[in-house]
Amino acid sequence: MSTRIPLPYNPKVLELFKNPKNLGRMEDADAYALAGSLACGDMIAIYLKIDESTQVIEKATFESYGCAANIASSSILTEMAKGKILKEAWNITWKQISDELGQLPVIKHHCGILAVGGLKRAIRAYFSNKPKPEWLPDEPTSDEKHALEEEKLIEILSKKLERKK
Ligand code: FES
Repeated sequence: MSTRIPLPYNPKVLELFKNPKNLGRMEDADAYALAGSLACGDMIAIYLKIDESTQVIEKATFESYGCAANIASSSILTEMAKGKILKEAWNITWKQISDELGQLPVIKHHCGILAVGGLKRAIRAYFSNKPKPEWLPDEPTSDEKHALEEEKLIEILSKKLERKK
């Protein structure tokens, strides 16, 4: 009888974890966001190259300081975002990412949400010095709230640690 505990990841997640697509910093990005998950304290960076006249995402890359699920989610997400106009990329959901990956384990849903929240933050950052399009909500979405800005994440996590002392 085998005593091996099965890994919670399916082969697609593991393959993208080992060979992620679009991994790396983009020096000439038109938009960028660094976002962290309150659920685990991990961080992600999303970089976008955008054609200003068409609003098409020409290139999307990421850096992840998260787990295998986050690396695989970010890899799929950047692949899905590439070639889309910003409005379409905004509507990519973490469930679509989970479907593409053959379902993320339930305890890893927040890793996919972090990736999507990071993309949304990068898209919002792109419009920070431009007129806001009507499809961009005024208030942060739940994905964005999950993917907190670095300062906010550190502030909340350090308060949590304080309370534990
Ligand atoms: Fe933190 Fe997956 S556990 S991103």
